[in-house]
Amino acid sequence: ESLDVLVFGSAIIDFMCYAPRLPNPGETLHGTKFQTGFGGKGANQCVAATRLGSKTALIAKLGCDSFGNNYICHLQAEKINVKHVQLLPDYTTGVAQIAVAHSGENNIIIVVGANKMLGPKDVENASYLFDKAKVLVCQLETPINGTLEALRRFKGISILNAAPAIANAPLELIQLCTILCVNETEAGILVGRHISSINDAFNALAQLIHMGANIVIITLGKIGAVCSSRATVYNCQLVSAPVVPPELTKDTTGAGDAFIGALAHSYAHFPEKDLADHIAYANSVASQSVQRLGTQSSFPYA
Ligand code: RIB
Ligand code: NA
Repeated sequence: ESLDVLVFGSAIIDFMCYAPRLPNPGETLHGTKFQTGFGGKGANQCVAATRLGSKTALIAKLGCDSFGNNYICHLQAEKINVKHVQLLPDYTTGVAQIAVAHSGENNIIIVVGANKMLGPKDVENASYLFDKAKVLVCQLETPINGTLEALRRFKGISILNAAPAIANAPLELIQLCTILCVNETEAGILVGRHISSINDAFNALAQLIHMGANIVIITLGKIGAVCSSRATVYNCQLVSAPVVPPELTKDTTGAGDAFIGALAHSYAHFPEKDLADHIAYANSVASQSVQRLGTQSSFPYA
């Protein structure tokens, strides 16, 4: 059986509180709505690619609790290969506490629990999946030594979503992946400089390529994304996203994951396309996701 996209990464249960605005430090706010959802960047990206038509498998860790059991059932219903999604008896399923403002912006705290146990051994155990996948996707919500091993082991097109970003990341991390994809905040952490304009983002692209990255994409929210590659380092490009009017922007949570899942799907099915075409497609999928509440619940079907 063929495999388009293999995701090595996190699975987390999201606790989402919607409120008129984000709270200030020390402030208590009345929210308007509470919802739980299936989240975690790894699982989100896997679900996004699957819904667009990719054959997918997820390598992840959950706790042996009701959250973990429900999550496995959910992934199976999405038609994801879950042979390497493991329930760990001594750990809790990862959770995320997410605040979403009516403007659609959010902030997130994650307690990753069982996700901490995803490591190099899990790469070895799922060796046959690494051999047959067209595209590998990793993030940084699980320990870095596992992510490094997954990237070393994989010979196809690999996408690293370096989120959440870590300062002073080992250079090997950004050098091993075919495509490094981060948002402007994460790019700022990787290059050690705040990014507040398209020009700053262009400079960060050049710097990341200078640090050894191959292809770099920096997503800029509703603006779209900028990209560059080793071969075209003096030719940074802005790929604009479709305009979503503010009154239609309901929840940006998981938009970055919709983008990555769509990018992976596009590379698996149309490897001959240009970088900018893959990004335009990913932008359009992400812009659909911001118009609906929740993370996975907002991802479109092909
Ligand atoms: O990218 C969005 C995701 O980040 C959420 O689903 C949450 O689980 C956090 O991991
Ligand atoms: Na959404």
